[in-house]
Amino acid sequence: MQVSSKLKAWNIFDMRDLAQKRVPRGLFEFVDRGTEDEVSLKNNRTVFDGIRFRTRTMVDVSKRSQATEIFGVPHKMPLVIAPTGTAGLLWYEGEIALARAAKAAGIPFCLATGSMTAMERVAEEAGGELWFQLYMWPDRSLSHELVNRAKAAGYKALIVTVDGVSAGNREYNIRNGFTIPFTFSTRNVLDMVSHPRWLLGTMLRYLVTTGMPMYANYPAAAKAKLTAGPMGRSSLRSDSISWDDLDALRKIWPHKLIVKGMLNAEDAAKAVDHGADGIDVSNHGGRNLDGIVSPIEVLPEIVDAVGHRATVFADSGFRRGSDVVKALALGAKAVMVGRSTLYGVAAGGEAGAARALEIFRDEISRVIALLGCRSLAELGPQYLKFVDPSLQPPKLARGGLRAVDTKAASQN
Ligand SMILES: Cc1cc2nc3c(=O)[nH]c(=O)nc-3n(C[C@H](O)[C@H](O)[C@H](O)COP(=O)(O)O)c2cc1C
Repeated sequence: MQVSSKLKAWNIFDMRDLAQKRVPRGLFEFVDRGTEDEVSLKNNRTVFDGIRFRTRTMVDVSKRSQATEIFGVPHKMPLVIAPTGTAGLLWYEGEIALARAAKAAGIPFCLATGSMTAMERVAEEAGGELWFQLYMWPDRSLSHELVNRAKAAGYKALIVTVDGVSAGNREYNIRNGFTIPFTFSTRNVLDMVSHPRWLLGTMLRYLVTTGMPMYANYPAAAKAKLTAGPMGRSSLRSDSISWDDLDALRKIWPHKLIVKGMLNAEDAAKAVDHGADGIDVSNHGGRNLDGIVSPIEVLPEIVDAVGHRATVFADSGFRRGSDVVKALALGAKAVMVGRSTLYGVAAGGEAGAARALEIFRDEISRVIALLGCRSLAELGPQYLKFVDPSLQPPKLARGGLRAVDTKAASQN
């Protein structure tokens, strides 16, 4: 893949810097930061240091490929763009930009319940493999209304997020005064005017076209119940979500159903018993509960528990191709990226998101080459060394990891 964007970003951290320059601080912090003391946020990055690579040499990797299949559908990379409510605040119709970048890169894009662009418009304007993420609202009929709309608009998978029964305690959002629907304060107006590229290209563009950005997917009855609150503290969250809700979704949703936000093997097994096709092992990017385990710490036990009968995804903290390869070697089928592509869209819209995906693609390709791997199917814990004793590989005998053809790899 060639370097396509004019953006000077050679890795995701450069992209983060560019995003920080373009968007108001209140918005940047909403995207970038975690919850409370950010222990989870930091651990999501440092956990990768506890696993090192063990390489194989003398393997012909000249025809290596990172193509994969997710639910039987071929994709060009082992990535999915994770649902994030605010892409449309970072860039004018940022969800369309993200979906187009995903389509061009040959990966799925998941639209969030709380996005600023309606799901039908994203489907019409971008196409590609679209998934929809659902938060369960107190009034279940409103959530089911969204599911039926996603079905009618051609969305191929439904992700139900179960780790948000209470909003994370993100004090900076209150301090910064960024709310949805937008309200104006001296602090956030100063913040906006000191970021003129965002103010003109995003906010003013909305104001002269569709008006103040809003949760475009919310049915009228849900919008009517909204009061302006700090971003991420939707007044519509349900804290009574239960297995009955999963059963109800399974009845009305005919396509693939993924449960997002599980970090416990028993929960994951029960979700599959209740009809889930996939589990996304996630701590919500360190945004909800501080001091929670990182997905990498529990991925092996979840792979052992359900990997043979469900597709396992992981997200939270992935910034490098090497992080992705480690999760795949632990048994994840694909990784969902949240902030990495949000930084891209904040820095440069569709081109920025495309560049973020291109960075991952190049890095994954380089890592598997240096590991001596010709395809993702060859990846497994035999390529890893656990230098942090609290981290463990999956137990291959019980788990659903792909059979690893080490003999072929060593013969080449
Ligand atoms: C700004 C932002 C908004 C998010 N909104 C949602 C959401 O609406 N629904 C959801 O299930 N997850 C949401 N997430 C969590 C992501 O889907 C994903 O779990 C997380 O971003 C992964 O961590 P990473 O950002 O370190 O890649 C959001 C994340 C961010 C950064």
